[in-house]
Amino acid sequence: MSHYYSEFPSGSFKKYRFRVRVRGIEVIIESASGVFSARRLDKGTEVLLNYMIVKDGWRMLDLGCGYGIIGIVAAKLAPRGYVILTDINKRAVMLAKRNLALNRVHNAEVRWGDLYEPVRNETFDTIITNPPQATGMKILERIIVEAPRYLKPDGILQFVARHRKGGRRLFEILSNVFPEVETLGSRSGYRVYAGKVGS
Ligand SMILES: C[S@@+](CC[C@H](N)C(=O)[O-])C[C@H]1O[C@@H](n2cnc3c(N)ncnc32)[C@H](O)[C@@H]1O
Repeated sequence: MSHYYSEFPSGSFKKYRFRVRVRGIEVIIESASGVFSARRLDKGTEVLLNYMIVKDGWRMLDLGCGYGIIGIVAAKLAPRGYVILTDINKRAVMLAKRNLALNRVHNAEVRWGDLYEPVRNETFDTIITNPPQATGMKILERIIVEAPRYLKPDGILQFVARHRKGGRRLFEILSNVFPEVETLGSRSGYRVYAGKVGS
């Protein structure tokens, strides 16, 4: 069965195009069936985009990038920074590459692969993700538990979830793994959680 998180989504390739305006930035998105939230920006992603911490000069990872909206906004907010976008879904990787070009983002690149595999031996100031909740708790737990290995001192993992639909549990896991945790913001039942490694 084909999911938005399949490596090779099967089925038709129906194209969509829409604009996203967030934090004073306008982004054009080309999307297609077979990727997450293909027709419009996901509500959780929107909440994350509004609350995520991005600093210029940072090296950032957009884990599970879909068509690339988080990485694109992060790259535009940090023109001297650099973003690596990754996804397991080949169609998403193709669209994210297309959207970087379409939005003239040059301080970013897209890689294909499973979770942290494409960035093995690399570290980041922040990892930002709207995690693939449909894949189940095991994958979500791995994203959190393995994150410190890929973070620089004082690096931050930031993710969004619906607090009452798994988010509470993810925040508990985050609190067990990271010495410093906080909620960066909340809206419409979604919360943006952050965990910071020590310095
Ligand atoms: C909830 S979607 C978020 C997509 C995009 N960041 C957004 O906010 O619109 C999660 C993404 O994680 C990807 N994903 C699922 N399992 C993965 C894995 N094991 N490794 C890498 N990416 C994965 C899915 O293909 C999907 O694009």
